[in-house]
Amino acid sequence: MAKVKILVTGGLGFIGSHTVVELIQSGFEPVIVDDLSNSELFILDRIEQITGSRPEFYPYDVCDPEKLRAVFTENKEIKACIHFAAKKAVGESMEIPLTYYRVNLVSLLTVLDIMKEFEVGNFVFSSSATVYGQPEHLPVNELSPLQKSLSSYGSTKQMAEDILEKVSETGWLKVLSLRYFNPVGAHKSSLIGELPKGIPSNLMPYITQTAIGIREKLTIFGDDYNTPDGTCIRDYIHVADLAKAHVNACNYLLTRTDTSPYDVFNIGTGTGNSVLEIVKTFEKVNQVEVPYITGSRRSGDVESIYAGCTKANKILKWEAQYTLEDMVKDAWNWEKSYRKQIK
Ligand code: UFG
Repeated sequence: MAKVKILVTGGLGFIGSHTVVELIQSGFEPVIVDDLSNSELFILDRIEQITGSRPEFYPYDVCDPEKLRAVFTENKEIKACIHFAAKKAVGESMEIPLTYYRVNLVSLLTVLDIMKEFEVGNFVFSSSATVYGQPEHLPVNELSPLQKSLSSYGSTKQMAEDILEKVSETGWLKVLSLRYFNPVGAHKSSLIGELPKGIPSNLMPYITQTAIGIREKLTIFGDDYNTPDGTCIRDYIHVADLAKAHVNACNYLLTRTDTSPYDVFNIGTGTGNSVLEIVKTFEKVNQVEVPYITGSRRSGDVESIYAGCTKANKILKWEAQYTLEDMVKDAWNWEKSYRKQIK
């Protein structure tokens, strides 16, 4: 029987590539569209190495309707789309907001237009915990009110969720928006992982690059928050767990007929850890020092957030499996293996 094809936009990126691996290992046939603007072609070889199967790949920009149309024409078996392709740097989004709005929204609208044309009505959206701002109650669940976003990046995620909900109400589209918390770690094989361009803005790649000596020291952004050790709290989730949530989301969309046209799910572990806890766990598990200093707060950071995930547990039958120890170990193994390879 022909396998169900899933279009994965941004399928060579950090979360995209791990999701492609999980899709293949779950019996789906991913079709990747990725313009390589923030990813590397060798990741495709690595996916093949891990899974023994080389997915169909198109180096296209999803904002180009003609190119996208060609992908759908050549892949009539596409039944759903997981849409990762987007710009994602919070700081950068404040410097070039127009670019963020254009790329993140035009890509979404273009994918939806072409899906409608080809009557493909299942969509998994890459959303973010950023839509909650600083919630009043923790853990934050899907019913918590959204707060006006502080960054243009966050604002594109809120707008996209809104667009998807409205379009789904017209009847041809079913959508699951997955609100990711903080994805870290890497595939167990150390063949794929996070590849930030330039100086990392996220905590984990900054830690791994400091531990390996590319960065002199980590700056912890603020130790005067109202948390047990004064540093910010986040819900870190292993990227392989996050990838599996996408597979469950596809299965749910493709097998259930009784579902609402639009739904949102938190995808985290349900546990909050402070920045200092992450650094200390990384040092302990990997037996490597991470030199750090404490600096001032980073503007726009929320103090504390972690996910209530009972909805995803119940409805998507999904639960995070990996521990914080796995996350820091796999992130470090990936950093070491990647650096060895590019030497
Ligand atoms: N941090 C440091 N030093 C660093 C980098 C980060 O102390 O060099 C701290 C931050 O202040 C924060 C924590 O580490 O307290 C996590 O920061 P990240 O930048 O790794 O992650 P954020 O929680 O800021 O952002 C993540 C995603 C965004 C998403 C946001 C939603 O990267 O895409 O969660 O809350 F929008």
